[in-house]
Amino acid sequence: MAQLWGGRFTKETDQLVYNFNASISFDQKFYKQDIRGSIAHVTMLASVGVLTEEERDQIIDGLKGISKDIQTGAVEITSEYEDIHSFVEANLIDRIGDVGKKLHTGRSRNDQVALDMKLYTRDEIVDIKYLLKELMETLHRIMKEHIDTFMPGFTHLQKAQPVTLAHHVGAYMEMFKRDYSRLTDIYDRMNYCPLGAGALAGTTYPLDREQTASLLNFYGPTLNSMDSVSDRDYVIELLSALSTIMMHLSRFSEEVIIWNSNEYKFVSIDDGFSTGSSIMPQKKNPDIAELVRGKTGRVYGALTSILTTMKGIPLAYNKDMQEDKELTFDAIDTVKGCISLFNGMMNTMTFNKPQMEKSAKHGFTNATDAADYLVNHGVPFRDAHGIVGQLVLLCLDKHISLDELPLDEYQKISPAFEEDIYDAISMKTCVEKRNTIGAPGRDAMKKVIAINDTYLANL
Ligand code: ARG
Repeated sequence: MAQLWGGRFTKETDQLVYNFNASISFDQKFYKQDIRGSIAHVTMLASVGVLTEEERDQIIDGLKGISKDIQTGAVEITSEYEDIHSFVEANLIDRIGDVGKKLHTGRSRNDQVALDMKLYTRDEIVDIKYLLKELMETLHRIMKEHIDTFMPGFTHLQKAQPVTLAHHVGAYMEMFKRDYSRLTDIYDRMNYCPLGAGALAGTTYPLDREQTASLLNFYGPTLNSMDSVSDRDYVIELLSALSTIMMHLSRFSEEVIIWNSNEYKFVSIDDGFSTGSSIMPQKKNPDIAELVRGKTGRVYGALTSILTTMKGIPLAYNKDMQEDKELTFDAIDTVKGCISLFNGMMNTMTFNKPQMEKSAKHGFTNATDAADYLVNHGVPFRDAHGIVGQLVLLCLDKHISLDELPLDEYQKISPAFEEDIYDAISMKTCVEKRNTIGAPGRDAMKKVIAINDTYLANL
């Protein structure tokens, strides 16, 4: 046991207490951020005269050495230390002697850990945004290639009206665009530096907090030292944004699973992204989509967990907050893995265009258009709705589609029908006529694709 705080104690910590309290098994994940924060801190301490330039240089050299040695494996982070902060400080003192004991001047682990967690999550937000961008590029390519791939659009998982694959995928594109901008918002709101807040009440040293904030690329220092050490809003916001990303991926996964089923056969998942069965030789399963759907619960769990942890904590720092780490790290790693794998699966998936079109043709997805045809011939919409309902019933009886029903049958039910009804309810017309922005018609889709072209080029 190597602790930073033995002075006022008369007894060794019980081993079980030590283990329960320690966080090194997981907070070692941000050793780089911890060292980066310490370098900024001592740089500032020297500039305000708390350390000499020589002391600063010795400490910085030592810290850089530790970082390098951890990276190469020359130094191992062991459970002998309570947390990563203690490990770095102890290792520094071993390397450079007494001057290393000055590192923690004007700092507490409370502002230090607040800083490390912010630096870590901030770096991860940048990575996740990049992965989202890659996924959006894949979806954008699919949209461009499938402007004319007709498929049924569903409500209640019942065939509703024909759309295109470009339009369907475009819906997810919008979701991921919002996810991306949510991450940007979070970054902007969290990007203030807590270092210098001390344990809770600032310090008596003449710290230059603007300087450390700027050295670490923050917009500025946080403005209340008690809030600085006890704020985990950004963790909650991040986990909420990650939960929303997972919710979107999970919905999309569910559709991929349906589309890939033997009954639908809309898509074929690449062999490289499918798995087999140990007993049924014919099986090719959509496990990636299922796992993405399944892992969503885990990320929601992290959000619920941190919200519950934070709700009863009085100001300022309390040890409960150490619980923010494992679940945040796990959620971040889970989301990154899911976005990458989902992207790989989508990028290699093939789309069965004839099957999608066939499915759109059967299921009366053009019934609304038949009613609109009547409206254009002077029939009030409510009556038109009833007439087409009767036609659908007739077709169901005859096991045919509206396109296959002879004109005289149409005319028996309403004389307003003429030969051009077939053109009016052809799938091409049904989709093409829907050309208000946001609709699946070719021109409308092209406008959205052009907007997304510019959007992606500027990310
Ligand atoms: N491991 C602690 C955490 O993650 C670091 C801060 C410890 N501060 C303290 N006063 N015990 O929150």
